[in-house]
Amino acid sequence: MDKFIIEGGYPLKGEIAISGSKNAALPLMAAALLADGETSIENIPGLNDILTFNNVMRVTGARIDYDQKAQTLNINPDNLYYPEAPYELVRKMRASFYMLGALLGKVGKAKVSLPGGCAWGPRPVDLHIEGLKAFGADIKLDKGYVVASVPEGGLPGGTYTLNPSSVGATVNLLLASVRGKGTCIIKNAAKEPDVVQLCDFLQQMGADIEGKGTSKLVVKGVSKLNGVTFRNASDRIETGTYMLLAAMHPESDITLKNTNPEDLGEFAVWFKKTGATYEIDGRDMKIISPEKIKPVSVITEIYPGFPTDLQAQWAILMAMAEGEAHITDTIYPDRFSYIPELARLGADVSVKNNSAVITGGQQLTGTSIMSTDLRASVSLVMAAMYAEGTSEVLRVYHLDRGYEGLEHKLNKVGARIKRVEE
Ligand code: UD1
Repeated sequence: MDKFIIEGGYPLKGEIAISGSKNAALPLMAAALLADGETSIENIPGLNDILTFNNVMRVTGARIDYDQKAQTLNINPDNLYYPEAPYELVRKMRASFYMLGALLGKVGKAKVSLPGGCAWGPRPVDLHIEGLKAFGADIKLDKGYVVASVPEGGLPGGTYTLNPSSVGATVNLLLASVRGKGTCIIKNAAKEPDVVQLCDFLQQMGADIEGKGTSKLVVKGVSKLNGVTFRNASDRIETGTYMLLAAMHPESDITLKNTNPEDLGEFAVWFKKTGATYEIDGRDMKIISPEKIKPVSVITEIYPGFPTDLQAQWAILMAMAEGEAHITDTIYPDRFSYIPELARLGADVSVKNNSAVITGGQQLTGTSIMSTDLRASVSLVMAAMYAEGTSEVLRVYHLDRGYEGLEHKLNKVGARIKRVEE
């Protein structure tokens, strides 16, 4: 297992190139299985989650060629003969559950393991299952697997209201229904850029979808979809993370390259309330850090609201503000495992129910801290980059799931991060 040794206190100067989006790429990869013929997706980041999902797809017999240097992924599902996704792979990554919709759409049947660390009940995939049932799929649970099939001729269709609105369930329902027989209506559908991009991709393949980017999606099943060439969006969460990182130090001077600021939703508005700002020039974004950071409380919401994937990084900026800020997560109420680690660095932080309270302005001091998940990990790296002295951040394998070349990108602009084997 690798860890990072980080020397804190250095401003960042220069350019950081934003990679292709992981969360947007995974639904596209699953959707490519629905085509007759080969699909080529550009701007696919070399992340462990992408490599894991490639292996999940390979199990089915589909041909997957990933050129990491060119960041291009070719998917040819013409020899797909084994519509299953085994526990050994699915437990590594929740998004593997997209195989359920993709395989049902492609061959009308699927056997997919329930994702790791989740129960049928509380951190659930119940909406995925109930939605598919409402559209006419037959679904059983057998020894930890979801075994599903659709009637002869394709998914009959129906209407399903997601409550709450779910990105994952919207993706799975789209994948299952675009090659169906009837009309499927998804109400309270997710409006995230990742879902909009999936609709663009499916439409280019030949799908009939109305309501893209709204909360009501109407899918009229078609009998055939074609392979396409498509360029994946840049990673909005990586953009948001580096915006916050650049705002942390008054002497930092960072330009993010290859961003799409429109995908940030209201995050951009919250960001400016801290006193930080930015200038856009095409796909470049220059971050202007404030002299003094203002405390700003946020509540995570479904898109375009403040993203749950950026609340841990927000907490680090707030640790530097003068005053108190609250962070409330309504999507994942217990996503605060990074808070006790921040306290070890000397931050004044606490958690109550689904809110963290951060009283900024304490000087953080370097020590050993441990990451527990992807976004928590990056937030601890950010904190260590600000702390006085040297920190070690343990278990950075989480970062390799979602931030392409993090230490290379940051060292190039002045950070002092060394990767060593624990
Ligand atoms: C979430 C984020 C998404 C982010 C992704 C990766 C939201 C709304 N979604 O997507 O932006 O890219 O994490 O970190 O911010 N739920 C159910 N039953 C289900 C499915 C979901 O009750 O079958 C609940 C979840 O517990 C959660 C909410 O619905 O409270 C939204 O879940 P969902 O959007 O599906 O989560 P992800 O797809 O993981």
